[in-house]
Amino acid sequence: MENSEQERNFDAKLERNETIEPKDWMPDNYRKHLIRQISQHAHSEIVGMLPEGNWITRAPSLRRKMVLLAKVQDEGGHGLYLYSAAETLGITREELVSQLLTGKAKYSSIFNYPTLTWADIGAIGWLVDGAAIMNQVMLQRTSYGPYARAMVRICKEESFHQRQGYEIMMVLAKGSPEQKAMAQDAINRWWWPSLMMFGPTDEKSPNSANAIKWKIKRESNDQLRQKFVNQTVPQAEIIGLTVPDKDLVWNESKKGYDFGTPDWEEFYNVIAGNGPCNKDRLAARTKAHAEGAWVREAAQAFADKRKELEVI
Ligand code: 3HC
Repeated sequence: MENSEQERNFDAKLERNETIEPKDWMPDNYRKHLIRQISQHAHSEIVGMLPEGNWITRAPSLRRKMVLLAKVQDEGGHGLYLYSAAETLGITREELVSQLLTGKAKYSSIFNYPTLTWADIGAIGWLVDGAAIMNQVMLQRTSYGPYARAMVRICKEESFHQRQGYEIMMVLAKGSPEQKAMAQDAINRWWWPSLMMFGPTDEKSPNSANAIKWKIKRESNDQLRQKFVNQTVPQAEIIGLTVPDKDLVWNESKKGYDFGTPDWEEFYNVIAGNGPCNKDRLAARTKAHAEGAWVREAAQAFADKRKELEVI
């Protein structure tokens, strides 16, 4: 088929809201855009296991430990679905992992902040997973089939994560004055980085125009950030906690909150590799990758042997 005809078919599929599948023709830039976004997403899931994982041994009860363990395992699973979805675009797992470990590929800014207290585990579940779901619900309808299908299960699990985080905060907020203060301190530290998760403002977002045109993203960074604020502020109020934003005010005409501006300089610094924990996170992933070499070799040897036996 002529390139222009292939392009017309591709556009028509998008127009009809049909998914693009791995063997379909797609423009090179669409493929590149998806590899960038899906791999950044996969890396975020895997790196996101680190700040929470280090609280598994310190969870305050057996029940809390089991729930946190399950949550962290879920994140590992999300990473695997997403790496598999990215691989359908013609890139190998080795290349993807190498892009993370060499700092070529980004992962979510949020995971470059430290988890200082148990309340941080509540704040991450409630705010960070809450922001992730706000973004990911629309991704269930993203135009690339394997990514959209991976997101359906991921969203179900993320919504359980959001509830477990909120429940931790609710219990702390109803606890002793020290526990309530610990919960408030966690919100104070995680609120602004959570708003930054949605990415730069629409006018400063170089990838948004293509993402919207190709129906990869269905809502813009600013629209999603606004929805997140509208949903989360009342949740904080219900449990007697506050959001650290002196400019926050209900705007009746837009039926939403007006809110302050995140510190974008901090955001760009963090995504450039200079956040409080970037170096620790990459060092931990690099160590885990090196220590897992024998597992990869054993799995490969098993696969090779099976192939050999199948041939015979
Ligand atoms: N952290 C790190 N980098 C970010 C970022 C963030 N929060 N927000 C934006 N960026 C980067 C972009 O990757 C882009 O850099 P690049 O061109 O070098 O790749 C640059 O900043 C400009 O941003 P754009 O708005 O133009 O980029 P996008 O259109 O890709 O939007 C996004 C950014 C909203 C994060 C989008 O990529 C997206 O929706 N990704 C899928 C969802 C995702 O990655 N979620 C991770 C959240 S954490 C998570 O899910 C784990 C769970 O357990 C909580």
